[in-house]
Amino acid sequence: MKKFKAILVTDNEGEFELLKKEIPFEDLPDGEVLIRVNYSSINYKDGLALNGNKGKVIRKFPMVPGIDLAGVVEESSSIDFKEGDQVVATGSGLSETVWGGFSEFARLDSNKVIHIPKGIDLKRSMAIGTAGFTSMLCVLALEKNGINKEKNVIVTGAAGGVGSIAVAVLANLGYKVTASTGREENISFLKNLGAIDCISRENLMRDSKPLESATWGGAIDTVGGEIISTIIAQLDRNSSVASCGNAGGINLNSTVLPFILRGVNLLGIDSVNCEYNLRKEAWSRLERDLPLEKLDSLSNLISFEELLDESKKILNGSIRGRTIVKIN
Ligand SMILES: NC(=O)c1ccc[n+]([C@@H]2O[C@H](COP(=O)([O-])OP(=O)(O)OC[C@H]3O[C@@H](n4cnc5c(N)ncnc54)[C@H](OP(=O)(O)O)[C@@H]3O)[C@@H](O)[C@H]2O)c1
Repeated sequence: MKKFKAILVTDNEGEFELLKKEIPFEDLPDGEVLIRVNYSSINYKDGLALNGNKGKVIRKFPMVPGIDLAGVVEESSSIDFKEGDQVVATGSGLSETVWGGFSEFARLDSNKVIHIPKGIDLKRSMAIGTAGFTSMLCVLALEKNGINKEKNVIVTGAAGGVGSIAVAVLANLGYKVTASTGREENISFLKNLGAIDCISRENLMRDSKPLESATWGGAIDTVGGEIISTIIAQLDRNSSVASCGNAGGINLNSTVLPFILRGVNLLGIDSVNCEYNLRKEAWSRLERDLPLEKLDSLSNLISFEELLDESKKILNGSIRGRTIVKIN
């Protein structure tokens, strides 16, 4: 019987069990597109899923975790994909209710699969992964609602996966980017990505007034909590913050004053259930607006064997940029 290697998570009466095992092909769930997975990546949610399913990422057992995958189509019953196509899948329920990318093979419905744009190869598509895709969704949301080019755009959690790609894209688009980080040792890394200055996260992690000096022409926030509350109070007139993360907490303590006196916008970003045309737009904008040398400088490749140890680091905020996992 033909088998493939994967990580499988089971729930035995509340006991979370994680095994690296050989799985028979016939156990792969139904789907139109069979993909030989070359690379996956580590996102914050993967850290949660692999280390006790904290935050309850996995909602159906047994589950192959991994919210991202990139690979080559082996078989397809969909007219949109053919054998040999290079494809990527991010979010879309992977590692939640659909078997994901920490596996040599995956079978998915075609509406979860995207052709990788020609200017991005398989490995780089996973340097991007959910994190980079989310950064681009934030940029698109800010553009649709107006970013003020006169003032700086702030990115929080800037040395992380979403943050570092957001810095590189915004700087390449000509925005003046301020990177907020809690790790001083990453200042030169962030300046090399294009940030014109950096501020310590401590400056924002505090009780804020309802309105503070109008400083930012836009913001991408990956942290939440006190940080996003302070940013809302500091947004310039008609500016927006794209809220995509909660690395620092889920609370949002604000007043209506920034919204009614400065016309600021709070934009919610959901990369998991994002609709197909927006997915295609985001990948095509990543091909155009993310400089490959910057992407390479913020990404790091590990083996399938190193995955579990590395996944612990993302939970304590010690990973810089993006981690690609070589699967096949
Ligand atoms: N909405 C969506 O669809 C979506 C998609 C992807 C990710 N996310 C969320 O976005 C967030 C970032 O994801 P990621 O993959 O970029 O994770 P990551 O690589 O771990 O980056 C998170 C960054 O946040 C900062 N940080 C970590 N712990 C913190 C704390 N306790 N207080 C303040 N700052 C802290 C760190 O940046 P510095 O060292 O620079 O301060 C860290 O590098 C996560 O909450 C993730 O779940 C959401």
